[in-house]
Amino acid sequence: MSFQVDVVVMAAGKGTRMKSLRPKVLHRLGGRALAQHVIDCAARLSARSVVVITGHGAEQVEAGLSAPEAAPGAAATALKYVRQEPQLGTGHAVQQAAPALPDDGVTLVLSGDVPLTQPDTLQALLDLCAGERLALLTLDMPNPTGYGRIVRAADGAVQAIVEQKDASEAQRAITEIYSGIMAVPTRLLKGWLARLDNQNAQGEYYLTDVVKFAVGDGLGVQAHRIDDAVQVAGVNSPLQLAELERAYQLRVAEALMVQGTRLADPARLDVRGTLVCGQDVEIDVNAVFEGRVVLGDGVRIGANCVIANAVIEAGAVIHPFTHIDGEKLGVSVGPGALVGPFARLRPGAKLGAEVHIGNFVEVKNSTLAAGAKANHLAYLGDATVGERVNYGAGSITANYDGANKHRTVIEADVHVGSNCVLVAPVTIGAGGTVGAGSTITKSTAPGSLAVARGKQIGLEDWPRPVKKR
Ligand code: UD1
Ligand code: CA
Repeated sequence: MSFQVDVVVMAAGKGTRMKSLRPKVLHRLGGRALAQHVIDCAARLSARSVVVITGHGAEQVEAGLSAPEAAPGAAATALKYVRQEPQLGTGHAVQQAAPALPDDGVTLVLSGDVPLTQPDTLQALLDLCAGERLALLTLDMPNPTGYGRIVRAADGAVQAIVEQKDASEAQRAITEIYSGIMAVPTRLLKGWLARLDNQNAQGEYYLTDVVKFAVGDGLGVQAHRIDDAVQVAGVNSPLQLAELERAYQLRVAEALMVQGTRLADPARLDVRGTLVCGQDVEIDVNAVFEGRVVLGDGVRIGANCVIANAVIEAGAVIHPFTHIDGEKLGVSVGPGALVGPFARLRPGAKLGAEVHIGNFVEVKNSTLAAGAKANHLAYLGDATVGERVNYGAGSITANYDGANKHRTVIEADVHVGSNCVLVAPVTIGAGGTVGAGSTITKSTAPGSLAVARGKQIGLEDWPRPVKKR
């Protein structure tokens, strides 16, 4: 059984209950737009194309989504957009997409606001469809209010989907609902779409009417009934968005734990992107990971850290309340390094092996070689720091002259005392010392002691005698 799959993603609806200016399908779950989850899932099924139907906020939606990455060895999935204006119902939406769907394939209808359907589930639905039949994804729901009900004949054969507003009292008692997801041979779909009308309680063109056409044409309709409500749950309100976010995060946490990552509490982890963990990684509570983060073997992440776009190498420890954000340049933390508590690593921070970055230290676009230390209250920006440098509390690189940024070079084994200002561009020669409180504006020779302070005031300089209390 071999057929091509073309996915239709319904995303033209308004989503009024989100009470947001942003189109509903662009709200984020696990760091990705809701509809992006759906598009990415299509790629995992090796779909030939994805057609997204847009309407409300069409331009924003089209700008906010991107083609999925092809699975290794698979052909790329093409991404297309079709506008539905005005929105006259789900059947009308698919009618707009029809010209973009080749007759030889199977159309898989998904919803842009249903982000957590598993590829396995959809594959099972496609297998039931088998390129020949209409197949529906259904679910038993204790409270089915609002959903289309699956009406079956005495022998169990699916007869129709009846919408809540069109249903009789007896039909409303049915707990099997239509999820909004179907797989249907495109050639058949097109014939049925042409027969839709809007003679129903909502005056809409219902996609669900294709079921009665299939039955009328004497073609059996298959139902793949699942019991995992999360997989077909839509997002219509901030509450539902938060509930699905937790469900998604729990899935991510479970996958990490299955691989051996030790989480202090799987309910207090947030991965808004991709987190790759080596062996023996430990993550304390309330860690937030964004973008792509890689944690090497034996890495420990303390409580309340936010880490984005960074590579943390084997054995490094990130102490609590540390904020790392690599943005586009990335951040790298070398093997065995210690960072935090309360440290801040910004784009382009590259820490070598065994580097120590302590509390209230900010590092931006700077390289620190193996064994360098900045343990307290300091700023290193646009700096190249050599091996074993010790950088004192309160010291900063003055890297910005108001117009341009300049580099500071601190060579190996330099000792920078407390409260120093290194005015870039400047180089501190290897093995040298910068005395506490110095403002260094000119480069220093290797091995030298540089002391450049303002007027020193000692007790003897004090103009009046100090009174005894
Ligand atoms: C639809 C089904 C219902 C099913 C439910 C599952 C129909 C007639 N009914 O109900 O049987 O139980 O989904 O959630 O299909 N959309 C458009 N253009 C439109 C209308 C809708 O793109 O003109 C999109 C929406 O943005 C949404 C999806 O289609 O992504 C479903 O629309 P929605 O109004 O939520 O579905 P219901 O009518 O509630
Ligand atoms: Ca509707």
